[in-house]
Amino acid sequence: MGVTETGKTIILNTASGASAEIYLFGATVTSWKSGGKERLFLSGKSALDSSKPIRGGIPIVFPIFGPPPSSPPEYAALSQHGFARTQDWTLDKIVMDRPEGVSIRLAAPPPPDSFPHRFTLAYVVTLTEHQLSTDLHITNTGSEDFIFQALLHNYLAVPDSSKIKINGVDAGTVYKDKVLGMKLDESDGNPLVIDKEIDRVYQKVPSQEITVDDGAGSGFKVRFRGFEDCTIWNPQEATGSKMADMEDKGWERYVCIEPGYVREFKTLPAGEEFIGAQVITAL
Ligand code: BG6
Repeated sequence: MGVTETGKTIILNTASGASAEIYLFGATVTSWKSGGKERLFLSGKSALDSSKPIRGGIPIVFPIFGPPPSSPPEYAALSQHGFARTQDWTLDKIVMDRPEGVSIRLAAPPPPDSFPHRFTLAYVVTLTEHQLSTDLHITNTGSEDFIFQALLHNYLAVPDSSKIKINGVDAGTVYKDKVLGMKLDESDGNPLVIDKEIDRVYQKVPSQEITVDDGAGSGFKVRFRGFEDCTIWNPQEATGSKMADMEDKGWERYVCIEPGYVREFKTLPAGEEFIGAQVITAL
């Protein structure tokens, strides 16, 4: 009862009424309902036919974050945010199916032929009454070091992004400001508000916990493990209106608090596993 396969998606349900929908395309969580409310933003203009990455929910960014680097060549040939979000994943296992919580593990297919590295990628999605956890497992099955970046690109639904307050980035935390051409700066520790386009990569966030007060009596706590960095992104009108798959004024209805390992490439020695996880609590 807790896990339903529809062909294109997997639906999770708990006895408390929480639910989640996961598209096999990109293993993208596209809906999370808790307390009777939808907690993830999904653009009404998003392609859902596997022709493009899904705009909203929680796309998986791997093995690069952002535009491709200039080298090595097999990474330079990748498209923005890598291939994991456009691969057809499969349901590997139902990890837990109990009235109070449901957990599944998805497996990614092998990488494209043009990316000659040996690794496996698994994704565990766990739903309970007030929490959604997603854990990315990367195992180096080759005989040489494997380098990657990875990030869980959640789009958290809020009633009005201009009214939210984001807490948890301690004073002194260094960030790269992508809006200001990758300028490095330091957080002043004050709550962050969305009063302009924000696209910042906070590096090694000490608390590994960011909260969003949505200004309307609820919000989110995003905790991360394995992942140390966190990108905070909201494009606002100037950039958001140029995105073909962004619904009208969509940027007013979400904020992205994206745990990841993205400040540099992570080196994973042969035979080792890296787990990067987020636990999102609906407040
Ligand atoms: C964020 C990046 O994580 O993703 C932004 O920091 C980027 O720079 C955004 O614009 C969306 O990326 P995409 O590829 O889904 O349009």
